[in-house]
Amino acid sequence: MAFDLENAGFMTRAIHAGQGPDPAFGALATPIYQTSTFCFDSVEDGMAKFDGATPGYVYSRGGNPTVRTLELKMAAIEGGEDCVAAGSGMGAVSSVLLGLLQAGDHVIVGDCVYGCTNVVIRDVMPKFGIEVTPVDTSDLGAVAAAVKPNTKMVYFETPMNPLMKVTDIAGVKRAVGEGIRVVVDNTFAPAPVQRPLACGADIVLHSVTKYLNGHGDVIAGVIIGSAEDIAVIKNIGVTKTSGSICSPFDAFLIIRGLQTLGMRVERHCANALAVARYLEGVPCVKRVLYPGLESSPYHELVITQMNGLGTGILSFELADDVNGMSSFEAGKKLLNALQLSHIAVSLGDPASLIQHPASMTHHNVSPEVRAEMGITDGLIRFSAGLEDAEDLIADFKQAIAQL
Ligand SMILES: Cc1ncc(COP(=O)(O)O)c(C=O)c1O
Repeated sequence: MAFDLENAGFMTRAIHAGQGPDPAFGALATPIYQTSTFCFDSVEDGMAKFDGATPGYVYSRGGNPTVRTLELKMAAIEGGEDCVAAGSGMGAVSSVLLGLLQAGDHVIVGDCVYGCTNVVIRDVMPKFGIEVTPVDTSDLGAVAAAVKPNTKMVYFETPMNPLMKVTDIAGVKRAVGEGIRVVVDNTFAPAPVQRPLACGADIVLHSVTKYLNGHGDVIAGVIIGSAEDIAVIKNIGVTKTSGSICSPFDAFLIIRGLQTLGMRVERHCANALAVARYLEGVPCVKRVLYPGLESSPYHELVITQMNGLGTGILSFELADDVNGMSSFEAGKKLLNALQLSHIAVSLGDPASLIQHPASMTHHNVSPEVRAEMGITDGLIRFSAGLEDAEDLIADFKQAIAQL
């Protein structure tokens, strides 16, 4: 009898779900099935596999055993019926939209999302007859007020990139009611932090590039939800319209990364909290945006929705006048003076990464929309790595001393 993984703890599921010795030779690590196509025993066998009468693989754009292992593991980690992997986080975002929406539909989108997501939803979707209303989803009254008879989806990130506001997922579901899909980009708070489906969301997606892979060497995405929704997103969105599929080699690396997800994420969060507490006490720091701080308006949601863990990312802004420099000029000097953290976009890598949203992750968002979102020119985003917290703080101290 197989172990009851459905009721097992998070680490047990992350290690064992979807994975077992390979049937061919008993290999414990999932083999990389690096093939475009699969051979059939006969024409009849091929016909049966094509029409689904016999299970099996036919062509790697439609499915691949290594990628399937990743999908089954992610479905177990997020607690969804099924999962489909994509070639990037943006592949996942666009496949959900292309799979589930049609002309005439209305989407409510978080007013502060990753720059490329903002472009796809707010600029590209209207070209296909889809109506879009940006809303601050941390304000449940505003979400409820934005619902129209043709609203089909609410899409948001929580915490939001890069302002770190937290949305009450169960509250959004209650505010919009049944029949409107709640889609959560959970990139910033993967399990064991936050499980949106358990809070009432219908679909959860990730840029796997970040914490899920966790080693900074893959670009990929995943989408998890009901078997019915995932079948549509897979068949219409991922494998046909966007064609954004995950490669077997990337799936292999992600499966390996997922087995240490719990330990890694807890340490990323603890390091971010330590740096946030330090920055909060620095006189030339104007504001620190980190939901795990007791002073944050989102601290209560960190306890109730985020397993008390918070996230590994924080944003902050220096004072308007730092020894005669504007917060933007001082921020540039600070980034250039850091010795441990790399100046790079992305997050969730073992190494700490620091970046300037207005000129980097959100540079493709117009200055007006950036101002509307609250992304100032002085804002800096920091992704805490897995280093020792004391070393990260020592690095900030020496860089701040140079301002
Ligand atoms: C919250 C969020 N969603 C989606 C994406 C897109 O992911 P990818 O870069 O893997 O396409 C990013 C990228 O930074 C992100 O931060």
